[in-house]
Amino acid sequence: MLSAIIVAAGSSERMGFDKLFALVSGKPVIAHTIAAFERTSCVDEIILVGRADSLEEMRKIIDQPTKVKQIVAGGAERTDSVRAGLDHLNPKSDFVAVHDAARPLVTPEKITRVFEICRTSGGAATLAEPINDTLKRADVDLAVKESVDRNGIYGMQTPQVFARDLLEEAYRLLAKKNISVTDEVSAVELLGRKVVLAPNHDFNFKITYPRDLPMAEFVLRQRARNK
Ligand code: CTP
Ligand code: MG
Repeated sequence: MLSAIIVAAGSSERMGFDKLFALVSGKPVIAHTIAAFERTSCVDEIILVGRADSLEEMRKIIDQPTKVKQIVAGGAERTDSVRAGLDHLNPKSDFVAVHDAARPLVTPEKITRVFEICRTSGGAATLAEPINDTLKRADVDLAVKESVDRNGIYGMQTPQVFARDLLEEAYRLLAKKNISVTDEVSAVELLGRKVVLAPNHDFNFKITYPRDLPMAEFVLRQRARNK
């Protein structure tokens, strides 16, 4: 059984207003994200992790019938929010997909692809973006210091899918060491376990700044047109 934890308990500081309820193509960002997981046949349940003060608003946007089995409050750091989701998984679930609510452009095809790689490659996989720009490391004064070889460099996206035991073990280690991480791959890396990438050549950017909202709307409109 595959459970999806959608983390939506951030504070949208760079956006300046609650980005997850901003409308894109007439629907809140988070509603697009949830819909992608609802439409993915290998996903059995969804755990939604939100800010304590927006759980009521989240309940209102869930269509019926739904795979959303729990709507729970997150924490101050993303790591705390993922942990809150892990605490509410169905006991029968043996795989967990973690996804940023702020990535509404994810699709059932991509979720399924990452899950398949996870299952066939040792229990840990993530969607990842090849980097196209030339990379440089700079000093604190922004003077270019050196080139960074782009070969083999990827940006981490979500979903990130894991065997449940593995992710829980990684989160126990984080707690023990009192470490906070920005994604689950970093947590599993601490255990020294292999994580396999699913390169993504399609749009799956994280809604971060106001400029991202019209971009997301454009992508969704193009996809609808090309169906
Ligand atoms: N998130 C979360 N709990 C937190 C922090 C982040 O559930 N304490 C979620 C966000 O809601 C988002 C995802 O993690 O869906 C990725 O985080 P990010 O894009 O950084 O969103 P925010 O933290 O809300 O934005 P900002 O960093 O600009 O405040
Ligand atoms: Mg953040």
